[in-house]
Amino acid sequence: MNKEMQRVADEWGVVPEEDLPGLAHELREVARLPGMRAIHHQLFDGLNLHLDAAVLEVGCGPWLWGPMLRQYVGPTALLAGIDVYYGLVAAATEPNVCVADGRRLPFHPRSFDAVFCSRLLTHVGPTEVLIDEMMQVTRRGGMIGAFEWTFSQWEIEDDNGPISDAVHHALVDNHYRPDIGVELPDLLREMGLSGVTAIPYLERITDAYDSPLTLELIRRHVDLVLATGEFPAEDVEAWYSAIRQRAEEGRFALTRTGLASWGKV
Ligand SMILES: C[S@@+](CC[C@H](N)C(=O)[O-])C[C@H]1O[C@@H](n2cnc3c(N)ncnc32)[C@H](O)[C@@H]1O
Repeated sequence: MNKEMQRVADEWGVVPEEDLPGLAHELREVARLPGMRAIHHQLFDGLNLHLDAAVLEVGCGPWLWGPMLRQYVGPTALLAGIDVYYGLVAAATEPNVCVADGRRLPFHPRSFDAVFCSRLLTHVGPTEVLIDEMMQVTRRGGMIGAFEWTFSQWEIEDDNGPISDAVHHALVDNHYRPDIGVELPDLLREMGLSGVTAIPYLERITDAYDSPLTLELIRRHVDLVLATGEFPAEDVEAWYSAIRQRAEEGRFALTRTGLASWGKV
């Protein structure tokens, strides 16, 4: 890792190097969910992708949307991706994926027909700087788009109560901009994009295939609640055991909400 790569990695600083393979696996599993695929198809439709369109994903991770994008732009189009973590980029199968910071994109102005991100802006900011960089590298008349979560609208279906609320608050509080999904269309308009359009995403995750990952996500936030000392540890663990029990009995559900939005530069 060179100095610049180390600097951007340190700046984001949430994922230790040894956890990157796990994160790549998690991202790969999420990208296989039917609802996620469907909303990304809607996003790519909105970006008006045509044969040979040059497309950039900012915060591409292991570049999981590449194969789907190829269906739109064909085999010879330039598809590029950048991500702050070398460990994720190294797992990408496309050649034009490199390490860079979305806040300083290493491309000439107006290089791409479309630029998008997926689940980036909840993690990192300043949002305006990232969007401005995306706009700079998009040609006039090209498109910018994003799929982003709206974490405060997520719902863990359980018997509710204060621990459930605390876990949900931990999820919201531990993101840079937890509700950027729903905020983004207005921001894109304010930043001068035209024809801004948004499509809501809502998925209720219930089945056994989806639950392990979701349970891990909940577990991470349970640990944050435990760290606050706000509730007796045994009550928090009992709440989590009840959630696992529900999952085992096929009664687990998490409703995830987000928004895909796009507009013309
Ligand atoms: C939730 S993941 C989504 C990955 C990918 N977009 C996908 O849909 O599978 C967020 C990604 O943003 C990347 N990221 C975070 N801060 C970044 C920055 N400043 N510049 C570029 N990428 C960044 C992370 O390394 C991570 O791969």
